[in-house]
Amino acid sequence: MPLTITPSNGACGATVTGIDLSQPLAQAQVNELRQHWLQHHVLAFPDQQLSDAQLERFSLQFGDFAGDPYIPPMEGTQVIEIRRRADERTPIFAEAWHTDWSFGATPPAATILYGITIPPHGGNTDFINQHLALAHMPDGLRKRVEGKRALHSAQRAYAPDGLYGEADKGQERGFRIVASDSAYEVQAHPLIRPHPETGEPAIFGCFGYIIGIEGMADAEAEALLLELYQWQTRETFQYHHVWQANMLVMWDNRSVLHKANGGYEGYERLLHRTVVA
Ligand code: SIN
Repeated sequence: MPLTITPSNGACGATVTGIDLSQPLAQAQVNELRQHWLQHHVLAFPDQQLSDAQLERFSLQFGDFAGDPYIPPMEGTQVIEIRRRADERTPIFAEAWHTDWSFGATPPAATILYGITIPPHGGNTDFINQHLALAHMPDGLRKRVEGKRALHSAQRAYAPDGLYGEADKGQERGFRIVASDSAYEVQAHPLIRPHPETGEPAIFGCFGYIIGIEGMADAEAEALLLELYQWQTRETFQYHHVWQANMLVMWDNRSVLHKANGGYEGYERLLHRTVVA
C-alpha cells in the first residue's frame, strides 16, 4: 500500500495513510515518516488498531521514552492515560497553550497520542506552527525577543500551589496527576532557537510554562511575554485537529504549541500518550 500524505487545510499538520503502525517498521519507513513529521510538524494516522505494547513499539522507533514527571504511567507500561469521564467537572487537562515539558533541561521531541474513546463533538486538539509565527513576526517585536532566554517552570501547573496541586486534590479526575516541589525548578531556554534537527528557527514555548525572562524585571518580562503570546497564538498560524477513534497523532514539541479543548460535556474522552525524548 503506498504511503499517502495529505496536508491539512491549517498552518501545519498532515494525514498519513497506507501504513500499519501495529507492525514493526523498516528503518527506511521510519526515516520517511520522520521527514514528513519534520516537514508538517503534526502527523495524524487514522484507522490504526494499536495495543499499548504496539503504541510503545511505534514510539520507540523515534527515540527513547522521555518519562512523565507528574503523571504516572499505567502499570507495567510507559503509556499514560488521558481520560475524562462523562460526568467529570474538573478543568479540562492541558487546556492552555504549551509545549510539553519545556521546563525540563532537555525537553522532549515528540508527543504521541492515540485516540480510544472520542466524543461525538468537541475535544479537538489545537496546534500552532511556531516557525510560521516567527517568520511573520513584526520586526519590532522580533528585535525585542531575539537573543533573550526564557525562564521555564512547571510551577503554575504542577507545584503544590499550582493548578493541579492541593486545589485539585478533592477533584475526581479520570487520571492521576502528582504535583511536586520539583515543579518550582526553573530552566532557561532561548526564546527563539533553531530546530535541533532541521535548523529552522522557531519560537520555543509561551507564557504559562514560561514565567520570566533572564535578566529582565518581572513586570517588563510579563508584558513582553504577553505581547509575544498575542502574536504566536494568532489563528492564522493554527491547525485544529479533529479526532477519530483509532487515530494516532504525533507532534513535534520543538515546532508547535498545542492545547486540548472541551466541548464534550456528558461524553467520555480517552487517549493514551507516550512522550519521546
Ligand atoms: C496533551 O497536551 O497531551 C493533551 C492534549 C489533548 O488532550 O487533546
